[in-house]
Amino acid sequence: MTKPLRLGIAGLGTVGVGVVRIVQRKADLLAARSGRPVTISAVCARNRGTDRGVRLGDYDWQDDPVALAQRDDVDVFVELMGGADGPAKAATEAAIAAGKDVVTANKAMLALHGQALASAAETAGAALRFEAAVAGGIPVVKALTEGLAGNEISRVMGVMNGTCNYILTRMQGAGLPYDEVFKEAAALGYLEADPTLDVGGIDAGHKLALLASIAFGTQVDFANVELEGIQRVEIADIEQAADMGYRIKLLGVAQMTGRGLEQRMSPCLVPADSPLGQLEGGTNMIVLEGDSVGQIVLRGAGAGEGPTASAVMSDVIDLARGTRLSTFGQPASSLARPTPAKSAVPAPYYIRMELQDKPGALAKVATVLGDAGVSIDRMRQYQHDQANAPVLIVTHKTTRKALDTAIAGMGETGVVAGQPVAIRIEEV
Ligand code: HSE
Repeated sequence: MTKPLRLGIAGLGTVGVGVVRIVQRKADLLAARSGRPVTISAVCARNRGTDRGVRLGDYDWQDDPVALAQRDDVDVFVELMGGADGPAKAATEAAIAAGKDVVTANKAMLALHGQALASAAETAGAALRFEAAVAGGIPVVKALTEGLAGNEISRVMGVMNGTCNYILTRMQGAGLPYDEVFKEAAALGYLEADPTLDVGGIDAGHKLALLASIAFGTQVDFANVELEGIQRVEIADIEQAADMGYRIKLLGVAQMTGRGLEQRMSPCLVPADSPLGQLEGGTNMIVLEGDSVGQIVLRGAGAGEGPTASAVMSDVIDLARGTRLSTFGQPASSLARPTPAKSAVPAPYYIRMELQDKPGALAKVATVLGDAGVSIDRMRQYQHDQANAPVLIVTHKTTRKALDTAIAGMGETGVVAGQPVAIRIEEV
């Protein structure tokens, strides 16, 4: 019989158990598609005694992930522990140094150390693959690396954190404030152990930085992703944006501009009737734009046992088949160091403010906008019974710099109460 591909799995949480289940339940299908059996030699996790609801007795137990990564009977080290540094990185480095291929779901590790790890893998003649690190079950790494390899990519964008999309769509559906829905999400177990990874946009920022590297042939540059989380999104913005025909999403956008690589992960308005606008609950969506193909929309589960294990297995099967691709779609040594361009691309903005309801107030705000070179597209004032009127303004395309100048100027008019809220409107 053809030699099996032997896995060593480090990390037996939701995803690790999902991978074990697929290997056990789909052995025939995996063998048929790979042309050889896929087996597990050994596993490793923090606590041996935990009942994980899956049969592990056939595999050697290894307490130390580094030792697991170096075993002679392991061809592919499957890293599912998580964490940017610590044991995950140490074991990945050990596997590479031992010439083993690595499959990982670890977005944080790759976002911070992807270039060094990809270079080390290439030097060692090993493969390092990460389909499961971005958008769970959606095969977006493959789509970019293989399916769209003949395209110049102009823009990558998407909703890459299901928890944030759950929170935002639940706020909208139930008319609930952020704090209340955050507690619900916590009770449902949707949040990462450190919730800031989700609601602060960090987890999604990691994913965006990885996709940008493949799309633009640049070294992973998470440090220059402009990050803003959803913690300050108010129900008033969700409702009033809806009234103007928009939805608020934690949207990642990466594009190569004349000034360099722009990477943003921040709350944005998108048209309510667009595919992104219609994305509900914990689902992810990635939109890819290539010069020959046009726009591609991928939608699916961004987390969970089955979807993430499905993505891990796609990398495992590639390796079993003998398909060996560079980590970021081209040799690591050929990836350019990107020039970061912050908020380089002009866009329309939504501005919400509380305006004193007295003669000339609106004129003062309009003057400040005009002086900063910001042109008004639409405006709406809402009924109110207080001294201040809620006012919404949608601008024509403008730069973030001009907008910030206008917002600062509004504070000096004496007619705007509190701090105006400004949210970018992304053309999708
Ligand atoms: N916490 C992430 C999400 C999944 O909510 O989408 C893991 O990246």
